[in-house]
Amino acid sequence: MGKPGDIDHFTRVRCYEAVIDQYPAATTSMSLLNLAMRMGGPREALWHGLIRKNHGCTHLIIGRDHAGPGLDSNGESFYGPYDAQKLFKEHEDEIGIKMIDFKHMVYVQERAQYEPFEEIKDKETVTILNISGTELRRRLSEGLDIPEWFSFPSVVKELRKSKPPRSKQGFTILFTGFSGSGKSTIANALMIKLMEMGGRPVTLLDGDVVRKNLSSELGFSKEHRDLNIRRIGYVASEITKNGGIAICAPIAPYAVTRAAIREDIEAFGAFIEIHVATSIEECERRDRKGLYKLAREGKIKEFTGISDPYDVPQSPELRLETENVDVDNCAHQVLLKLESMGLIKD
Ligand code: ADX
Repeated sequence: MGKPGDIDHFTRVRCYEAVIDQYPAATTSMSLLNLAMRMGGPREALWHGLIRKNHGCTHLIIGRDHAGPGLDSNGESFYGPYDAQKLFKEHEDEIGIKMIDFKHMVYVQERAQYEPFEEIKDKETVTILNISGTELRRRLSEGLDIPEWFSFPSVVKELRKSKPPRSKQGFTILFTGFSGSGKSTIANALMIKLMEMGGRPVTLLDGDVVRKNLSSELGFSKEHRDLNIRRIGYVASEITKNGGIAICAPIAPYAVTRAAIREDIEAFGAFIEIHVATSIEECERRDRKGLYKLAREGKIKEFTGISDPYDVPQSPELRLETENVDVDNCAHQVLLKLESMGLIKD
């Protein structure tokens, strides 16, 4: 385990294997120590030294800001960049393992090699290339070039495998709006368009279908609605994690609950909230299922928009007006949104 947002363990190990392949055969072997990072900085570096010594190592690389947590709440580096190396040096003899200190290395284009930044004398005249962690993540997510000087192509291949570009990642679309607003109809039209495009499996979690299968024992109290939406969110997050497209179409009346499932899903891919903004008057006028009539007569209690609240989404990714707009047009607006977010490519 590393810092949140770090690459997962399995990918990391595949990257190490790809690096090992770069050394002359039989000079190098890999030994994995499944040790979670504590972000303890200098003291953790010492601890790493003790553990490696106990495993029979003679030398250990201590990096810049070794095991550091990065920036503190004021945006400043929690530990100095070489604090860990300094502490390690003091205790090296006592532990009986030698430190190989690793400075801040940068690539010097003119000399086509890496050099310690502090030791470059002609900084003003040479071109120093560097790709930050943030920039690397951006390039991966947009499928952009990662130059060979930065990393071995075999390592980049592993990184791309675990972090495919957005157009190949899973995502979740949540349609929210009153009963009879047109969520299911638009969701179905969108599903067909996405299936025609192909590439990723599409699952439709329609409100009524979920109520029949996943949430058959639930009613419409706040607790039960929340539970219903959390279940939908859970299934959608699993689909998203595995590279699929989940289209959800429940009423999802509570902003807090929508925000909660957004958080769950965004750990794995994009979350697109779409408010199907058909007015309650229009939904009641259409009354496709005859439920509004029953709600007005008091035969259905806690009916959303009549006798139960609906939090209008404040900043959805997209708001669809459905009055005088046909379904195809609505589904098309969603596709355009997905395209602008880099989630689909033509
Ligand atoms: S949610 O609030 O939990 O998101 P969900 O989308 O699953 O609701 O179910 C809404 C559907 O259940 C409506 O389209 C309607 O057909 C039916 N329904 C039955 N009772 C109610 C009610 N009290 N409020 C809203 N919808 C209801």
